[in-house]
Amino acid sequence: MYYIGIDLGTSAVKLLLMDSEGKICNVVSKEYPLYFPNPGWSEQKPEDWYEKSMEGLKELTKDIDKSKVHGISFGGQMHGLVILDKDDNVIRPAILWNDGRTTEECDYLNNVIGKDKLSQYTANISFTGFTAPKVLWVKNKEPENFAKIDKIMLPKDYLAYKLTGVHCTDVSDASGMLLFDVKNRTWSKEMCEICSVKESWLAKIYESYEKVGTLLPAIAAELGFPEDTIVAAGAGDNAAAAVGTGTVGDGRCNISLGTSGTIFISSKNFGVDKNNALHSFAHADGTYHLMGCMLSAASCNKWWMDEIIGTKDYGAEQKGITKLGENHVYFLPYLMGERSPHNNPNARGTFVGMTMDTTREDMTQAVLEGVAFALRDSFEVAKSLGIKIERTKICGGGAKSPLWKKMIANILNIKVDVIESEEGPSMGGAMLAAVAAGEYSSVEEIASKFVHVVDTVEPDPELAAKYDERYKQFKEIYPALKPVFDIIK
Ligand code: XUL
Repeated sequence: MYYIGIDLGTSAVKLLLMDSEGKICNVVSKEYPLYFPNPGWSEQKPEDWYEKSMEGLKELTKDIDKSKVHGISFGGQMHGLVILDKDDNVIRPAILWNDGRTTEECDYLNNVIGKDKLSQYTANISFTGFTAPKVLWVKNKEPENFAKIDKIMLPKDYLAYKLTGVHCTDVSDASGMLLFDVKNRTWSKEMCEICSVKESWLAKIYESYEKVGTLLPAIAAELGFPEDTIVAAGAGDNAAAAVGTGTVGDGRCNISLGTSGTIFISSKNFGVDKNNALHSFAHADGTYHLMGCMLSAASCNKWWMDEIIGTKDYGAEQKGITKLGENHVYFLPYLMGERSPHNNPNARGTFVGMTMDTTREDMTQAVLEGVAFALRDSFEVAKSLGIKIERTKICGGGAKSPLWKKMIANILNIKVDVIESEEGPSMGGAMLAAVAAGEYSSVEEIASKFVHVVDTVEPDPELAAKYDERYKQFKEIYPALKPVFDIIK
């Protein structure tokens, strides 16, 4: 039997074909555009997601016996708002997780409704990228579109809807909407009222590893898959990545270096960071997790390489970087504002500390280190909650760089376990489909069978101490520049 994981990312949809034993048989990626119609705005067309996913599914399975495709599931970019009218037309482009337009709506939610109430209803406070403030934004700024809403959904759930006709979501992704009572794994009536969201607009909630339906006959025919191909609810990309890296059960950690950068800590018990710097979300294995999310991670390096230096050879640029822990140049990675822990859409990317002898390598190094320092900001919040983390898994495009892994191990001073496949969300999606199909009894069971650590990057005490000093300096830069970010916004 084959299982397919669809990782609906921000730069591309990545599809993975896995057999029942966890062997990866094929991987396909299809890009689609990202639109920035105003500074700080970020949008995509749901129709592009569907078109590219269908193309990808066909390419992924072109050389196999398609009658053996048994299940499909997802990891999806979180928080995006997709709105459909009563005829299932997409009303406007989706507003994405890294969009910063909702500052007024967040101020209203956090300050007028109040963080205590939000936290009580949803276990979280409002961040500009979350879904509920976007619904309020549409209500306030595009009343004609708001009047047409018949359904709201998250990005991967739009795909599930197109494939199965079932309006569904899963607990991990729903957690990032700020309309969901995370502790009780159900919609929050209070939040829906506050945000003028009608119950009928909302999806049916599933655990990530549950079957939501089968392919619509026309879709099955177009793909050449059996009509009883199971579709499982899937998860937000971070929870799916955690499944794909075996970050399930209690007290495990995964770092994802994708467009966003996240630090994900699994927990058997529900818990809330009292300052709400870390998100408190449901996990795809039936438990919970805490998560810090930076809005630009591997995307900072991509921007620096593609747009500024003008190269595609990232490895060659990293070869000349040898003086770790000694760089006097710092980079604040806030190219899309920042979520965790600063919650400031006005924060901006910044280089600090250049002199006439600063080299291109120093600046590339600063970009990679800046992302790792910013991850440490969230890691410090976790430590302040008494959470002890000695090791982490790692996934995402940035995890392909040995240098970046070494920086992370030393800047966070933890062991970084490298696993066989860095695929993360797409692997997690395929694993959730296999659980939904009954091949494995639980997410924990499949993770323990499929995920193998092949290497560990250990921190070096001397280098970790040097980076500790550097981190103290890094930490001073954001508070000093915050007033400037408020002026230049
Ligand atoms: C998590 C978040 C990002 C997106 C990226 O809260 O916003 O990691 O899920 O796809």
